[in-house]
Amino acid sequence: MLKEQLFAKPITEIIKKRLSVRSYLSQPLSPEMKEALSRFFSILRGPFGGTVRVELIERDLALKELNAKLGTYGVISGASTYAVAVVEKADRDLEDFGYCLEKVILYAASIGLGTCWLGGTFKKSEFAKAIGQEDHEILPCITPIGYPSSRKSLIDFAMRYAAGSKNRKSWNELFFNGDFSHGLSEPEAGIYKTPLEMLRLAPSASNKQPWRIVKGTNQTHFYLQHTKGYAKMLAYDLQRVDMGIAMCHFELTAKELGIIGKWHISAPGNISTPQDTEYIVSWVEGI
Ligand SMILES: Cc1cc2nc3c(=O)[nH]c(=O)nc-3n(C[C@H](O)[C@H](O)[C@H](O)COP(=O)(O)O)c2cc1C
Repeated sequence: MLKEQLFAKPITEIIKKRLSVRSYLSQPLSPEMKEALSRFFSILRGPFGGTVRVELIERDLALKELNAKLGTYGVISGASTYAVAVVEKADRDLEDFGYCLEKVILYAASIGLGTCWLGGTFKKSEFAKAIGQEDHEILPCITPIGYPSSRKSLIDFAMRYAAGSKNRKSWNELFFNGDFSHGLSEPEAGIYKTPLEMLRLAPSASNKQPWRIVKGTNQTHFYLQHTKGYAKMLAYDLQRVDMGIAMCHFELTAKELGIIGKWHISAPGNISTPQDTEYIVSWVEGI
């Protein structure tokens, strides 16, 4: 079994530790940290083939933009650096975006840095200008990246409380065996127990956790259960970004366990889907 560990620490440890950080020390990132991050940015390709460009943007600009653009949802204190990312417009662009930026976020967590996904409208913003966003690219989210402050701001507490950030749905709400009418138990998940558990801990917009997984014999099917009306409120369908994030957690954990597999789009014809639930992709074992 070829076990692929991407980071210096085990992925399970990183995933369990990561959380959204909204209060930062104002201290800028060290040049070594910046260099390590930039090196990591140069190798980002999503599971659907899209390439994601990521750049670090410095503080003054970032703070000005955040106050102006994100209103109450994205109140971040003290961050001096932001990671800004764009993806080429394509069929599964938002999923590729989520997958790649989450890899950056997990890498940042592995070297002790805090982050927080922020979704918004960044069109024609200073962020878009700074990264040189082209017409064929989209910029759906950014993240502060920096040293977490041990003192949380009030707004940090309020945001975590409002989104119920420490809670996650239970296995039987998220994972299914064969079809949507049978829940998947941990023993039934077999070698996928840990990859699924790591997926369950993934961050998602407003902590909605829209991923639903159906395990077959040697395929694991990924579905997106859209929260009614959610995408309409936003510039981009952030739940598709959530899906890419979940794929990232699942794949990195599977690979680290030595499980061989690939992403493949072929909707199983025999599984009837609940309302508002859309097939996205399958993980096919052993190809
Ligand atoms: C795509 C996406 C967009 C998000 N947008 C925001 C945002 O604009 N502001 C914010 O404070 N948190 C945002 N979050 C963070 C979520 O609220 C957070 O991940 C969730 O509540 C789970 O908490 P945790 O990350 O601490 O585990 C976003 C998360 C994702 C995945």
